[in-house]
Amino acid sequence: MNRESRTDASGELRAASQAQPNIALIKYWGKRDVALNLPVVGSISITLESLWTRTDVHFMPGQKDDRVSLNGRSDQAETKRITKCLDLLRTRAGVDYGANVASRNNFPTAAGLASSASGFAALVHAGARALNLDLSLEEQSMLARRCSGSAARSIFGGYVEWVHGKLADGTDSVARPLLDANAWPLRVAVAITSTAAKQVGSTEGMNRTAETSPYQSAWIDTQEADLSVARDAIRARDFDALASISEYSCLKMHALALAAQPGLLYWNGATVECMHRVRALRQQGVPVFFTVDAGPQLKAVCEPSAIEQVKAALRDAPGVLDVLDTGLGEGARAIATDLVGA
Ligand code: ADP
Ligand code: DP6
Ligand code: CO
Repeated sequence: MNRESRTDASGELRAASQAQPNIALIKYWGKRDVALNLPVVGSISITLESLWTRTDVHFMPGQKDDRVSLNGRSDQAETKRITKCLDLLRTRAGVDYGANVASRNNFPTAAGLASSASGFAALVHAGARALNLDLSLEEQSMLARRCSGSAARSIFGGYVEWVHGKLADGTDSVARPLLDANAWPLRVAVAITSTAAKQVGSTEGMNRTAETSPYQSAWIDTQEADLSVARDAIRARDFDALASISEYSCLKMHALALAAQPGLLYWNGATVECMHRVRALRQQGVPVFFTVDAGPQLKAVCEPSAIEQVKAALRDAPGVLDVLDTGLGEGARAIATDLVGA
C-alpha cells in the first residue's frame, strides 16, 4: 500500500489523494437498488487527465463530527453525503472518529463534469489509506460506487467498464479497466457552457426518470448490446464504431430523461449548437464525436490530430464560455497533503 502522504512520524490518521472525473461513453442512468447504489445497467467510460479532485482526509480520535471544506466552503448537504461515505470506511476499520476533510475540484462542481465521480473516488482512496485499510482497487471501486455510481469508474484510469453485477449485496458491481489510457490516447475538448450547479442533481434526476419515464424498460433492454459494441470498438481501436455507439448512448439517455415527468432538460442552446458543430466536422471526415452528461457541457472526443480544429469549432460557438483540453488519465492515487491546499 502506498503511504507516501501519511505523516508517519506523528502517527496521524491522515492521507491525501487525487482522482480525475470520467465521462461515460455508454451511460449509467438508473438504480436497481438505491440504498446500495446498484445500477440498472452497466456502463463504459474514459478517465480524464487534466481535470482533478484533490482531497485530504484527517481522522481525529475524540472528534465526533466531520468537518468538511469543499472548494473552500462548507455546505450541509455536501457534508452529509461525505459523512455517509466516510461511515462505510469507519465501519470497515471499526472506528467512530470524525474527520477533517478538505477537497478541491479544479473544474465546476455539480455542473455535469462528473465532480461526484472524482470527488468520491478521491475521498475513498484517501480515507481508506488514512485508516490503514488495505483495500484492493476493486474494493475501493465498490465503496466509491456506494457514494456515487460514476465514482466506481474513477478509481481506474483509461477505458473502464462498471459492470452490472449479479449478487444481491452488490459486492460484484465494480469497475474494471478495459484498456490503458496510453494504449489509445484519444483527446477530449470540453466546451463549458455554464458554470452553475445543475437544478436537478444526477441522483434525483435518475430516480425521477425511473419512476416516470415510459422509456425506462427500453433503456434497460438495449444496454447490453451497446456495451458489447463499445467493448469491441475499444479493443479494436475502431474510432468510427466508438463514435457511433457513444453518440447513440448519449442521445438515448437524454431521450429517456426528457420523457420523465417533469422532463429533465440538461442542455442549453450552446450545448445543442456544439452537437451540430461536432457532427458537421465528422461529416467532413474529422475524427470526433460528442457526449453530454447530466449538465450542459459538451465533451468532444477526438483523435489527437483533430484536437486544434475541434477546439476552434467549439470556441467559436455562441454561448461557449471556455474550452478545456485534456488527454486520458490514470486512476486514483496518493499525493502529498500540501498539494490539496484547500
Ligand atoms: P456532477 O455532474 O458534478 O457529478 P452530481 O449531481 O452527480 O454532479 O454530484 C454533485 C455532488 O457531488 C456535489 O453536490 C457534492 O455533493 C458532490 N461532490 C462534488 N465534488 C466533490 C468532492 N470534491 N468531494 C466530495 N463530494 C463532492
Ligand atoms: C449522466 O454517478 O453522478 O453522468 O450514482 O446518483 O451519484 P449517483 O449519480 P452519478 O451519475 C452519473 C450519470 C451520468 C452518466 C454516467 O456517468 O455514466
Ligand atoms: Co455525478
